[in-house]
Parts: sequence; C-alpha cells; structure tokens
Amino acid sequence: MRFGGNTALDEVGLTLPRGEWTGLIGPNGSGKTTMLNVLSGIYVPQAGRTTLDGVGIGSLRPGPRSRLGVVRTFQHPQLAESLTMWENVLLGVDLRRSRDRRGRVASAEDPVAVARKVVDIFGFTAYADHVPSQAPYGVRKIAEIARAVVASPKVLLLDEPAAGLSREERRELIAALAVIRDARPDMAVCLVEHDIRLVASVCPTIQVLNFGKVLASGTSSEVLKDQSVIEAYLGKSAARLNEGTTT
Ligand SMILES: Nc1ncnc2c1ncn2[C@@H]1O[C@H](COP(=O)(O)OP(=O)(O)OP(=O)(O)O)[C@@H](O)[C@H]1O
Ligand SMILES: [Mg+2]
Repeated sequence: MRFGGNTALDEVGLTLPRGEWTGLIGPNGSGKTTMLNVLSGIYVPQAGRTTLDGVGIGSLRPGPRSRLGVVRTFQHPQLAESLTMWENVLLGVDLRRSRDRRGRVASAEDPVAVARKVVDIFGFTAYADHVPSQAPYGVRKIAEIARAVVASPKVLLLDEPAAGLSREERRELIAALAVIRDARPDMAVCLVEHDIRLVASVCPTIQVLNFGKVLASGTSSEVLKDQSVIEAYLGKSAARLNEGTTT
C-alpha cells in the first residue's frame, strides 16, 4: 500500500486464523491502521491479495465486506452521531440479520430487545438513550466494540481499543474482551494496540510492524523477547513488562 512515494505496507502478510486472537503492534506510523484499512476495504492497495475463507475479497468495498463478516472498530470511535447509543448497537444487530437473511436463517428475535440487552451486557445502560456526544470517550469506544461484536463477524478488527481510556475503563475493556472471546470462539480477531500488557494477555500470537514491514511474528512470549523488537519498539516498556510493572 503506497501513498505517493511512501510505502506504508511493504510485502506485509497477515493471516488471521479462525478462533484466534492476533496482536498487531508497532511504533506510530508503522502501518497498523493502514493494514486494517486494507483488510476492511477502506484502502485499495496497489498490489497484494485479501482473502476470506480462501476467496478473494480485494475488489469489495467496505459495506459488502462487512456483510461477509469483516467488521472493525476505529482508532477514534465512529458512531452515528444522530442515533442514540442503543440505536448504534442496533446497526450491528441489523448487519448480522442481513447476513442471516442471506443464509435464510429465520429468526424470531426482536432486534430492539437484542440491542438493549447487549447495551446492558457491555455495561453502558446509563447512556443507552443518549447520543454519542453525551457519553464519555471510554463508553463510546466500548459501544463501538459492542456494535461490531453483535454483528457476529467472522473477522473482527480492533484499532487501539484501549487508547484514551482511564485505568478503570481499561479494566472494563479487558473484562469485555474476555467475555467476547468466550462468547465468540470461532471469530478471528486482529487487535491493534499500544498497551503491550493488554495485547499479551489476550493474544497468543503477535505480529510486529516497523516502517511498513514485518519486523517479527510468532508467539507473544517469543516476540516480546525478540531483541530487534525490543530495540525498535518496546525499549523500556519491555523491561517494565518483564519486571511485572505497568507499561
Ligand atoms: N490516507 C493516507 N494518506 C497518506 N499517507 C497515509 C495515509 N494513511 C496512512 N498514511 C501513512 O502511512 C503510514 C502508516 O500510517 P498508519 O496510520 O497505518 O500507522 P499506525 O501504525 O496505525 O500508527 P499509530 O500507532 O500512530 O496509529 C504513515 O507514514 C502515514 O503517514
Ligand atoms: Mg493507527
């Protein structure tokens, strides 16, 4: 993926296996968000292939990709500002139902009741009837994740879910991620995040980008001990991680 003379992703391969959580980490500007934009169809790369279950989806725009099950959240939450928080979650319910209809799965569920229940499960009932601008940043981020998860994606792409959250909100996010992992065991997840402790706690495998190239990939413990990763990216935070203090 090139922007003028800047190659933002240079022969980067990323496989997101069904049922696995993969961390995608790297310094600012290393290409993480660009990768999610390519996978979700927001950017069209000059070369390369994107496949879902072995079928090429590179020619599809973001809408059709999401209807096939590639669903994402954004570094800065992008909720529909004119809708309330529960109505935003309803968009996710509708996305799943449109897929169910295509697969001709008859459903007797009440989408409104489902959206309301998901709001409760994710713990933002107090803001359910507010528009996003009236809700704290952390609540908006959680709501965007709720909207994505309730769409029952095959592939969930999370761009820095913990960024901008308070310590308490971060704890709630980690609890929510654990619930999601148990509730959706078949989902492939790509977690982009600077909070290495969070990534290591939920992702058995990690890929590291640096200047648009893959610097390392493997199990979390291998990658976080990799000397090139420590030098390029982790630095002091790796030392602190190994000491067991907060990064
Ligand atoms: N729409 C765009 N137009 C031009 N350049 C872009 C565009 N999107 C990304 N880039 C460039 O691609 C490179 C990678 O950016 P990207 O946003 O993917 O980094 P990132 O790893 O997500 O960083 P951060 O941790 O700060 O979010 C940067 O050099 C950035 O300037
Ligand atoms: Mg980014």
